[in-house]
Amino acid sequence: MTGSGPGATPAALVIRDATADDMAAVCALYNALVATTTVAWTEEPEPLHVREAWFAEQQRDGHPVLVADVDREVVGFASYGSFRGEGKWPGYRLTVEHTIHVGEGHWGGGIGRALMDMLVSRARANGLHVMVGAVDGANDASLRFHERLGFTEVARMPEVGIKFGRWLDLVLVQRVL
Ligand SMILES: CC(C)(COP(=O)(O)OP(=O)(O)OC[C@H]1O[C@@H](n2cnc3c(N)ncnc32)[C@H](O)[C@@H]1OP(=O)(O)O)[C@@H](O)C(=O)NCCC(=O)NCCS
Repeated sequence: MTGSGPGATPAALVIRDATADDMAAVCALYNALVATTTVAWTEEPEPLHVREAWFAEQQRDGHPVLVADVDREVVGFASYGSFRGEGKWPGYRLTVEHTIHVGEGHWGGGIGRALMDMLVSRARANGLHVMVGAVDGANDASLRFHERLGFTEVARMPEVGIKFGRWLDLVLVQRVL
C-alpha cells in the first residue's frame, strides 16, 4: 500500500526499533551506494558480520537503531553513536553523530524525515544536547535534507577524504536539540 501520489509518505510506514534480524537489510541499504557514490568513504562493501557486531555494540551502549518498515520490508534506517570516540573524551558525552540511509526507490517520500523525527525524540529523551552529521560535500541530497530538518552547516573541511582517486570535502552539520 502506498500514499496518494509521488513523494507521498507510504501509508504502511512504521518506524520501529531494529532487531538483529533486520541487519541483513540494513547492511544491504548501506552497501547499495558504496560502489558507485562517495556517500560513504570506503571502497569496500561491509560484510554482514561487521554490521551485526555494530548492532550488538549499539545495544550495549544504549544507542537507538531505528528502521523504516513498509509492509514488513526494511526500506531505511537511522542511528546515532558517540561523537569522537565512545568514552574517550567525556566532555562530548551529550553530543552524538548520526547516520541515515533510505533505499533509493523510496527517496522523497518522507521516510528520511520520519526516521529523523523519531531519532531526535529518542536523543532528547536520552538527555542529549547536540546531533552532528558528517556529510560528503558532493552529497547535495543529504545537505538539502539536513537543512530542511533544522541542521546548520558548521564546518567544511576541504580534501580530508579520498575515493575513486578524487579528494573529498567533509561538511559537518549540527542541530542543537
Ligand atoms: C538523504 C536521504 C536520507 C533523504 O531521505 P528521504 O526519505 O528522501 O527524505 P524525505 O523525503 O523525508 O525529505 C525530507 C526533506 O528533505 C528534503 N530533501 C530530501 N531529499 C532532497 C533532495 N535530493 N534535494 C532537495 N531536498 C531534499 C525534502 O524536500 C523534504 O523537505 P520537506 O519535508 O521540508 O518538504 C536519502 O536521500 C538517502 O538515504 N540518501 C542516500 C544516503 C545518504 O546520503 N545518507 C546521508 C549520509 S550523510
